[in-house]
Amino acid sequence: MRLRQLILSFLDFSSTHFTSFERFARIDGDYDYGIRESRAGFHLNPASRDRSRESGKRSPGSMTRHPSLSRLIKDHHRGIALALRCRKQALGQIRPTGIQGLQARAKELADFFACNLDGHFRAEEGILFPFVANAHPDAGLLIESLLREHEKIRRGVACLPSETNPAKLLFELGDVLEKHIRREEKELFPLVEAGLVGAEADKVRAEIERLAAPPKPE
Ligand SMILES: [Fe+2]
Ligand SMILES: [Fe+2]
Repeated sequence: MRLRQLILSFLDFSSTHFTSFERFARIDGDYDYGIRESRAGFHLNPASRDRSRESGKRSPGSMTRHPSLSRLIKDHHRGIALALRCRKQALGQIRPTGIQGLQARAKELADFFACNLDGHFRAEEGILFPFVANAHPDAGLLIESLLREHEKIRRGVACLPSETNPAKLLFELGDVLEKHIRREEKELFPLVEAGLVGAEADKVRAEIERLAAPPKPE
């Protein structure tokens, strides 16, 4: 029992304190972000929830998420898994290794950006950030920082096709994308959820769906 508690404490510590490279060493196979969807919203899977209870800490996503954020949560779930694959690929831990695998992963990230992240960022910048800034004037620094990360990801993805060896860029993009998503889950979404009541929740959900939808071809 004591050994189990020690291991759980170590895992909690490592998830918040280790550098990306160090944390990467314990990734094996597809990463389980620990979120499961139900009609009432999004929840951590039972194992993750039990671990949070035992440690007394709330990990990103450890609360039931508001259904109005469901579209963004789905993108976060997929984004975390892809971010980890990008870093593994950059380290030569996914086959095929070498330039062939790197280019395949770069294309996967570029496609995910075009189909999901581009609209996701539009929805956050068009509705969530102003919503939070209006209700929480002290959240200005957080929003500025998240906006800078959006630009960093946009610029990095735009550079991917011209990289002859995208390993370094893929690793950096995986790193910034994972950190960005975790900060939003931990710091931004609780501020949004605090204001999502009644008709306001329906309005935010509708705006997210509208802004996140890909632009119609002209
Ligand atoms: Fe974002
Ligand atoms: Fe996001």
